[in-house]
Amino acid sequence: MTPGRRLPFVVAHRGASAALPEHTLGAYELALKEGADGLECDVRLTRDGHLVCIHDRTIDRTSDGTGVVSELTLDELKDYDYGEPGCPAPLLAFDELVRLALDWTSRPVKLFVETKHPVRYGALVENTLLACLDKYGIGAPASADHARAVVMSFSPSAVWRVRRSAPLLPTVLLGESARYVGGGAATTVGATAIGPSVKTLRTHPELVDKAAAAGRATYCWTVDEHADVELCRRLGVDWVATNHPGRTKLWLDA
Ligand code: G3P
Ligand code: CA
Repeated sequence: MTPGRRLPFVVAHRGASAALPEHTLGAYELALKEGADGLECDVRLTRDGHLVCIHDRTIDRTSDGTGVVSELTLDELKDYDYGEPGCPAPLLAFDELVRLALDWTSRPVKLFVETKHPVRYGALVENTLLACLDKYGIGAPASADHARAVVMSFSPSAVWRVRRSAPLLPTVLLGESARYVGGGAATTVGATAIGPSVKTLRTHPELVDKAAAAGRATYCWTVDEHADVELCRRLGVDWVATNHPGRTKLWLDA
């Protein structure tokens, strides 16, 4: 490590999801044991207003059930298995993930929570999320460094809603196009960080310096290859989201 140079922090994308089923308690526990600095998750609202950690609109890919998350109640969703053959796993409610992160006392772990849009409940997703973060005392951090939660979205409206209602919370405007994440959108919605994909960063490495010059951090996803981890380190990316938190920590510590 270059003296005085900060390593990128490592965010476990959907948990240690290369090793264990995504968005399961086991995947997040493994990520913590492997040294992850942050935990990424996607959240959706159930029909009865609970936030659950599920990426897709439906549970078809990640469970042994079928159906649309927003049309099912929490109890109905809990009826299914979110693991894999030989490795069963229950549904993970967002509350449980918050408790896991906050109970991990050996180091402060940040939650990177992505709200998915468009969805039928619109702004209710962010409102419910902010209420939950407030309930756990992490909705209004003293500073971005001390924040235990970061809210992210591809939806500029969602980021703006969070910025307006919880101005102290860090936010990431996610995006695929360099023109979009590196342009005026982040300023317009008041995002504190930009979130380009690693593919975008490979062709537009200048995004990191440009964001830093505007006082913004960079969160890059999904950084699984060694060359990409090195690229992010060289560019000064603040956060790398990876499905392999353990080996990424080892690479960065080498
Ligand atoms: O961390 C951001 C990244 O997760 C966005 O893409 O589809 O994996 O949610 P996706
Ligand atoms: Ca995500």
